[in-house]
Amino acid sequence: MADKFLFTPGPLSTTATVKQAALRDLGSRDDEFLSVVLDVRRRLLEMAEAAGAGYEAIPMQGSGTFAVESVLGSLVPEAGKLLVVANGAYGERMAKIASMLRIAHSKLALPEWEPVSLAAIDAALDADPAITHLGVIHCETSTGLLNDVESIGARTNARGVCLIVDAMSSLGGVPLNVPAAHIDAIVSSANKCVQGIPGFGFAIVRRSLLEASEGVARSLSLDLVAQWKGLEANGQFRFTPPVQALLAFHQALLELEAEGGVAARAARYAGNHQTLEACMAALGFVPYLDTGFRSHIISAYRYPEHPSWNFEAFYRELSDEGFVIYPGKVSNADCFRIGTIGNLYPQHIEALCAAMERALARMGAGTAGAPL
Ligand SMILES: Cc1ncc(COP(=O)(O)O)c(C=O)c1O
Repeated sequence: MADKFLFTPGPLSTTATVKQAALRDLGSRDDEFLSVVLDVRRRLLEMAEAAGAGYEAIPMQGSGTFAVESVLGSLVPEAGKLLVVANGAYGERMAKIASMLRIAHSKLALPEWEPVSLAAIDAALDADPAITHLGVIHCETSTGLLNDVESIGARTNARGVCLIVDAMSSLGGVPLNVPAAHIDAIVSSANKCVQGIPGFGFAIVRRSLLEASEGVARSLSLDLVAQWKGLEANGQFRFTPPVQALLAFHQALLELEAEGGVAARAARYAGNHQTLEACMAALGFVPYLDTGFRSHIISAYRYPEHPSWNFEAFYRELSDEGFVIYPGKVSNADCFRIGTIGNLYPQHIEALCAAMERALARMGAGTAGAPL
């Protein structure tokens, strides 16, 4: 059966060579596997422009949420207090993790349609001098909104606040110099812009912060510092590693480099996004976010007000043709989403657009060029 094209925020369409790299049996203590893990960690630092800058890359079993939970639970000490910027579902999730782990925290709840401003961050920090850590989402995948983590990092650094960034859907697909942005810890996962297969997340963390965080962890399996120390001591994971996902990820990192690195990948995704914007406008779909706030990672579109519109039917029509889109995740509007990351090129976006036009016509919900 042919694979469908995934226009989602992940798992994504991956190359055949990435999938093939996973088709091996390799012992978790095998020298070959350990050297793959070491090289993955080294390449991740390079990807974040953090090599030689006092950072460590630490893979953690599980999905991306496990890695966020590991970072928050292992790096915010009992005496600390976390301020979570929530301008979307993933900011809300970060606050929920803090609450489940009983981490002292407060939430800066903001509208989902605009990036957090420095003024809002300043006001929240001014109002509560107990805050020691700030958590923010880079690309709010729920809408595609990009928060300006570089400006935020300059501000938190000046104010002596530790910055934790969830860059799940953006790291590797949006250029970001982690040390220059004064980010203390950043999280992503295998099946996002690096274009690997699911199975683990990872954190890139300032070494001095890891050293200062011994004994903070609120979980045995998600103890990031213990994971780091284990990897440093003998190159091994403490508990069963996702061997095949790591082999695939290593291949994905080689392919990222062969493509020309993060800048080249970002340019390809931007081309995908531009192609999508033009065709969605021609089909009459209205983006949820204003121009200027939209990333090239994923785009949210409002449900049209056409009597024949039905998202489930639209989704099925497209899926039957081999194109998988994604439901919405904003609280104040009915939307659906289309991802432009993964092993996709503008010609795939054009093929999706042609399929959307056919689907709308079959549904009696509009034709290209006519507003829905
Ligand atoms: C910004 C962000 N944070 C966290 C997550 C959660 O990742 P996972 O579904 O792998 O647990 C996602 C997933 O898309 C995400 O986009």
